[in-house]
Amino acid sequence: MSITGIYPPSDEFVRQAHVQGMEGYRELYRRAEQDPEAFWGDIAAREIHWFEKWKEVLDWKPPFAQWFVGAKTNVSYNCLDRHAASHRKNKVAILWEGEPGEQRFLTYQELLRLVSRFANVLKARGYKAGDRSIIYMPMIPELPIAMLACARLGITHSVVFGGFSAEALKARIQDLGATVVITADGGFRRVKEMKLKAAVDEAVAECPGVRDVIVYRRTGSDTAMQAGRDSWWHDLDAALTGPDAEHCPAVPLDSEHPLFVLYTSGTTGKPKGILHTTGGYLTHVTATMKWVFDLKDEDTYWCSADIGWVTGHSYIVYGPLSAGATSVMYEGTLDYPQFDRWWRLVEKYRVNILYTSPTAIRALIRQGDHWPEAHDLSSLRLLGSVGEPINPAAWEWYNRVIGKGRCPIVDTWWQTETGGILIAPMPGAVPAKPGSGTLPMPGVVPAIVDFHGYPVEPGHEGFLILRGPWPGMIRNIWGDPDRFKEQYWTKVPGAYFTGDAARCDHDGYYWILGRVDDVMNVSGHRLSTMEVESALVKHPVVAEAAVVGKPHEITGQAVCCFVTLKKGQGGDHDKLGQELRQWVAHEIGAFARPEEIRFTDALPKTRSGKIMRRLLREIVTSHTVTGDVTTLEDLSVVTNLAAQQDEE
Ligand code: WTA
Repeated sequence: MSITGIYPPSDEFVRQAHVQGMEGYRELYRRAEQDPEAFWGDIAAREIHWFEKWKEVLDWKPPFAQWFVGAKTNVSYNCLDRHAASHRKNKVAILWEGEPGEQRFLTYQELLRLVSRFANVLKARGYKAGDRSIIYMPMIPELPIAMLACARLGITHSVVFGGFSAEALKARIQDLGATVVITADGGFRRVKEMKLKAAVDEAVAECPGVRDVIVYRRTGSDTAMQAGRDSWWHDLDAALTGPDAEHCPAVPLDSEHPLFVLYTSGTTGKPKGILHTTGGYLTHVTATMKWVFDLKDEDTYWCSADIGWVTGHSYIVYGPLSAGATSVMYEGTLDYPQFDRWWRLVEKYRVNILYTSPTAIRALIRQGDHWPEAHDLSSLRLLGSVGEPINPAAWEWYNRVIGKGRCPIVDTWWQTETGGILIAPMPGAVPAKPGSGTLPMPGVVPAIVDFHGYPVEPGHEGFLILRGPWPGMIRNIWGDPDRFKEQYWTKVPGAYFTGDAARCDHDGYYWILGRVDDVMNVSGHRLSTMEVESALVKHPVVAEAAVVGKPHEITGQAVCCFVTLKKGQGGDHDKLGQELRQWVAHEIGAFARPEEIRFTDALPKTRSGKIMRRLLREIVTSHTVTGDVTTLEDLSVVTNLAAQQDEE
């Protein structure tokens, strides 16, 4: 193929790949298209252990899907027991390095032992299938241990990213109706302790349903414990006695048993609990480990995400462990103690597959090539990207400086809702084009449509939708089926609405352009404009707030807030700006801290009183206002804001 900007894999890579050449990919895609149920049934039977087989592969009553109906399985069993009973029993499952430098290499049988012990702790306290837990931990092995222990018993977990505030944590505990919170005293970030337990105390004070707070000691700092509610993980562990302490049979669970709920930002102020279930999710994440990461038994695989986000769930914990991989887990930041920390890790552990985000790549580019060049990166054979569109400059650097031009790059498009990767190249089959997620996974049917749901011509922009169900798909919004239907399935009847704009080129390659709704993407983290707005208007001096994403060189987007103050308030804008930035960090979490607060006398609104964020977005992106402003109530508001921008 001689289209410019196409990067085919080397012959050597293709020869050793799970899926070889375009024909290999097309054949898989064709089979899935012709008979999706037979296709997924074959994969599920081959890749997953089932205690009981299904009666039918799929029951699809849009928008509700059930996969592997009537079958029984257990995610923890598939991630642990079956490997511990195989040639992999002494293979490292989780290869962990703490930010201060400690190492823990947990083999499959050791991980099984630790998970079984913790599952016994939960069981001894009366927790069982159907209960819900919140896990709020730093990136230490006990985080996946807690997840796998819950999965073993059928306790539905919701991991809350350690960067979220007490307020955010409280909302999640309450929405989920969790009765147990699993946490740690704190975690390390650039040597500083990030306290976690203090936030749990603040949150749980208003959650009467929580019976137990289990605290793992990570940092060893002073931690207040509330008698009758809080226990140390190690005390509960030590109290396990008898020969069965290390054995805890995995409970055979229905294929549709809720595995986890992960809260993510939507278009309203209230985060939604995305529900994923057991058999379909596991099949999807396991299959994509081979298709997209071309995983081999001998690989050291490293996904640099935080387990608090979906990427960590699917591609640090469940996907890699189910596929029997060695999954690297690193606690800290990429710049500690210096900007070569990641390259040290790659060199030390001979990492073969590295999966990270464009934000991280851009942050690393900025520090200069000498950091990676000082290390031997020759073990790398495949690179991945996720979370946001990767810009050509970042792609080129990743390819040249990290991959030395010999590692295929898989740009993977997916969402919390999709459970696993949906659009990405199979690296031994599909040539890459920088910036494109390329082609859909087998069984995935994307389309680009206009406002009315009609397909647009190749090369034209439109909304990305997905036709038909796939095994890892969202099953519901926790406790809110109406919102689930409305949010995803009514915009284009019968199809799943992704909220992303995209185009499909003449080769059938997908190019994701970004969100079409009020969701920002800051460092690859989803954040709703409304969430930040509702945090701001809770502040006593704020009258109104409008928030938009502003293009940012490193983080993709940055949070930019337009704020009007209540009468008589004002004073020192710099000081107040600082205070409001801190306020948002406290209300939501440090990652949501606005980059910019702009004070204004009024916000642009339609005649019906709706804030026109589109105009504000234009002001911060292009510094001008174009398009239709006829519905605007007071045009001078916009002119003033744009003029203010020009003065800066
Ligand atoms: C964006 C993260 C372009 C997209 C797995 C999507 C991407 C949102 C890509 C989901 C990619 C994710 N190229 N954009 N490869 N991957 N996105 O739920 O806007 O945190 O809708 O899931 O991130 O973010 P979420």
